Amino acid sequence: MKIIALSCTQKRLPSLTDALLDAAITGLVREVGDAEVRRIRLIDHRISMCEGEDTCLDPDVGRCTIDDDFTHVVGLAEGAQAMLLAMPVYAGNVPAVLKIFQERLKSFMNAEQRPFGNLLVGTIVHSRTMLTEPALASLFPWYLRLRNKNVASACFTQAGHQDLTRTAAVDLCAAVGRQLGMTLDGGRSPADGRAALPLVQPARPRCGDPAASSSGA
Ligand SMILES: Cc1cc2nc3c(=O)[nH]c(=O)nc-3n(C[C@H](O)[C@H](O)[C@H](O)COP(=O)(O)O)c2cc1C
Repeated sequence: MKIIALSCTQKRLPSLTDALLDAAITGLVREVGDAEVRRIRLIDHRISMCEGEDTCLDPDVGRCTIDDDFTHVVGLAEGAQAMLLAMPVYAGNVPAVLKIFQERLKSFMNAEQRPFGNLLVGTIVHSRTMLTEPALASLFPWYLRLRNKNVASACFTQAGHQDLTRTAAVDLCAAVGRQLGMTLDGGRSPADGRAALPLVQPARPRCGDPAASSSGA
């Protein structure tokens, strides 16, 4: 099962965002044994700003014509079923690198295939002091437009902790990963190799039933 781990920090490694993403990946892999996780650090790719020409929406063109790494990054997500997205708050909102990427994905608005769309998502947002929730909320219109479904999120601030990786934030990130993994796993059919849970529990003997008295109930 292919999962995208999208790091949206603008900082070089090591970054707190990537450390928190690692924790979420660990949680996810715990639930999905066959997870093939593909990490994408947006900042490592050359993705320019949308030039607002709308040629991508012209049915005769049908794609973004800017010549950079965008098409390559989009290709990395091919066949993915889920995404873990981790980002810091920059200036009260999503980092510019993610905003630019979001705007470029508009080129698929009229397309049948929507890269980075139709995914189950787990989201991690962190900041130094504030505005994690508004930044998280600003992601939702983007998720909805791409038909993504956010199944778990965690928001936290450093709040005086110099090293968030030595706090319970790591456990929260792992829980986001696990929840995403459980949701993915729950959506598998029995043919995927795991035994399906019984839909109906076997009836328990009632008080007074012969079966109940013989079992000592
Ligand atoms: C350009 C910039 C803008 C920031 N804006 C905010 C902000 O609005 N609110 C906040 O609490 N922290 C803000 N921060 C702090 C980051 O969210 C915080 O340092 C985060 O841990 C950085 O993660 P990283 O090391 O993975 O990039 C900002 C940091 C940068 C570099």
